[in-house]
Amino acid sequence: MQLGIDDISFATADRYLDLATLAPVHGVDVDKFRIGLGQDRMSVCAADEDVVTLAAAAAQPLVESLSAAELRTVRTVLLATESGIDQSKSAAVYVHHLLGLDPACRVVELKQACYSGTAALQTALALVARNPEQKVLVICSDVARYELDSPGEPTQGAGAVAMMISADPRLVVIEPASGLHTADVMDFWRPNYRSTAVVDGRLSIRAYLDTLKAAWLDYQDQGGEPFASFDAFCYHQPFTRMAVKAHAHLTKVVGQPLDAASAEAQVADTLRYNRVIGNSYTASMYIGLVSLLDHSERDLAGARVAFFSYGSGAVGELFAGVVRPGYRDHLRTAAHQELLERRREVDHAEYLRLYDVPNPTDGGDHPVPAQTSGPFRLAAITGHQRVYERTAQSAVDGIARAAASAPAATTTATTLPAAG
Ligand code: HMG
Repeated sequence: MQLGIDDISFATADRYLDLATLAPVHGVDVDKFRIGLGQDRMSVCAADEDVVTLAAAAAQPLVESLSAAELRTVRTVLLATESGIDQSKSAAVYVHHLLGLDPACRVVELKQACYSGTAALQTALALVARNPEQKVLVICSDVARYELDSPGEPTQGAGAVAMMISADPRLVVIEPASGLHTADVMDFWRPNYRSTAVVDGRLSIRAYLDTLKAAWLDYQDQGGEPFASFDAFCYHQPFTRMAVKAHAHLTKVVGQPLDAASAEAQVADTLRYNRVIGNSYTASMYIGLVSLLDHSERDLAGARVAFFSYGSGAVGELFAGVVRPGYRDHLRTAAHQELLERRREVDHAEYLRLYDVPNPTDGGDHPVPAQTSGPFRLAAITGHQRVYERTAQSAVDGIARAAASAPAATTTATTLPAAG
């Protein structure tokens, strides 16, 4: 039985900052960001966007495309994030409600820095192997935040990716062999009292590359495919230049070294979306996969893709997928490109205003200004509860049907107004 990714879609924030605007603030040439980091823009959340609204927006097209009977086969939702909105309640429960999914569903959040999306994927594959008639909705959603004026600031970003995992998938079959590596490294972390990450940038790059090597060697020990059998490589992308460095490093590890230009050419199609989105932590590698599928001029049917998923702290996993024949008929390329074109550019002053996300701690009633043009928004923080709603953008037949057939929420603070 073949298992893997049946459908995939991403969402990103409503706004972006051009890194040409940030470069003079940092007192550097913009090429440091464009060439040195491989980043042109960063997605910036509107005041009423967060990991819940991004996650729901990414998953909405997947949910809409299913019939009512198919929707009932989605009995698990796994949401990976390292920028969650609650220490106890899973962001996935809010998303499950916003999407109007069936209550007969297990719903949970996973965390291990940028790696947890891959833990969610592997868990989903195991669940589908046990119940091949079921589907698992995996969502990775993050808002990457560093201190203002820090070296990490130009690598910020925001995005979510949703993947429907099933038997006989239409897009990518995930192969069973995996190379794993975990080491206790303090390269990047975020204590509970901080809204931005603490990072040792140099150490983080070294830890990423060391983990890549160890995961590759373990992948080989586990009976993985030889290097020569891979047609494409998709790496975690904290900034796109990192994927180029990683690929050059892996070619050295396997004894077939490539220079930076050749390494870049081999991963170029995976970098296109992340160059203008920035780091989306858990979602980044999977947005890289969407970028590859959406941009490759070559028909990738039958192509074997290597994935390297890295999460600081540090956990890495290297695994492989094979692209299915006919995959192009099931891509959402036009929607992805329209989403990026629809974003509104912000100037530095507006970026600074949005950087201060609403975070009232007094338990009062705090409406959040309506800003996003996306399909879901954070409407208020009231009595310590986050209240979400659909916007006019999400008034789409499939969602309306799914929401109407779901029983009314009882204990959730999420409000779900009728589609307008
Ligand atoms: P920095 O100190 O600003 O940058 O920090 P730099 O001085 O090292 O320069 C960066 C590159 O730009 C260098 O290239 C320069 O030569 C080049 P390299 O030597 O590395 O090839 N450069 C220029 N190029 C062209 N024209 C110019 C120019 N000037 C300089 N004019 C750093 C960079 C990545 C450390 C910083 O952005 C940072 O701390 N980022 C956050 C941490 C991070 O992204 N780490 C990556 C690995 S860890 C990871 O992937 C996990 C993560 O996603 C989180 C998680 O798992 O949860 C972060």
